[in-house]
Amino acid sequence: MNYYHISDAPFIKEMKEMTHNLWINGWAENHAGNISYLLQEDEVKLYLNTGQYRYEKDIGFAVPDLKGSYFLVTGAGKSFRNVAKDPSDSLAIIKINDDGTKYQLLWGLSSGGEPTSEFASHLMCHSARLKVDNQHRVILHTHAMAITAMTFIHSLDEDRLTKTLWKMITECIMTFPDGVSVLPWMVAGTSDLGKASAEKMETSRIVIWPQHGIMSAGRSMDDAYGLIETAEKAANIYLLAKQGQSEDWQDISDQQLWSLTDRFDLIPKKGILEPR
Ligand code: 13P
Ligand code: ZN
Repeated sequence: MNYYHISDAPFIKEMKEMTHNLWINGWAENHAGNISYLLQEDEVKLYLNTGQYRYEKDIGFAVPDLKGSYFLVTGAGKSFRNVAKDPSDSLAIIKINDDGTKYQLLWGLSSGGEPTSEFASHLMCHSARLKVDNQHRVILHTHAMAITAMTFIHSLDEDRLTKTLWKMITECIMTFPDGVSVLPWMVAGTSDLGKASAEKMETSRIVIWPQHGIMSAGRSMDDAYGLIETAEKAANIYLLAKQGQSEDWQDISDQQLWSLTDRFDLIPKKGILEPR
């Protein structure tokens, strides 16, 4: 059987571009951030023998809904700065085994290593999103700067934080009408963080990890990125406006937000806007 060269695969190209973008944005210092991308078996089979793997490891919990699924995922401790230079070392293609308790390394991590330390969060969030959206594909975690800064000075009540973001720029309520979720500060790389994130992902596609970063879910790489880019822009505007000395403060009013939801046929998360 002849396989196409994996460096030509569109999903590798997308991953190289996205990790580069995140690094250029200053959101991926050192080895910060991780991405996982659900692949279809048919596309993987063009490049790899899916029956062959280098090693198999316990996930540590079961993800029965994901059994037999393939993921392209960034490696633990691998720098986004280097993904485009050396994708075969920075990335991994893994398959979840038939009972959802182990993963098999099919390709990548050429100098050794494992999938991201946030693998638990990624798998649990994929599972949660696929239950509500069968077109879901990508989980993206990055150390976005303004959103993280905002978690130092803004209430961590997720409805209040959602409302503040919606009021900063017109685009927010249109991009994330489901709002943003916020967790308490938690230890990185744990399945507790995974469980808590996945619970939030059942109803919103953005989860903020205070004093750490942000995680999003999308139907494509661009979709997942666009959510974070928009929330981050609003957070930047909030921080800039907060520095102003003026006594005035005009943001988008609740009634104006309602008129946006009318115009674009959106259902905003309940309980955030004042009734009309
Ligand atoms: P990894 O290098 O293991 O993906 O960890 C980076 C990170 O951002 C942890 O939250
Ligand atoms: Zn992180």
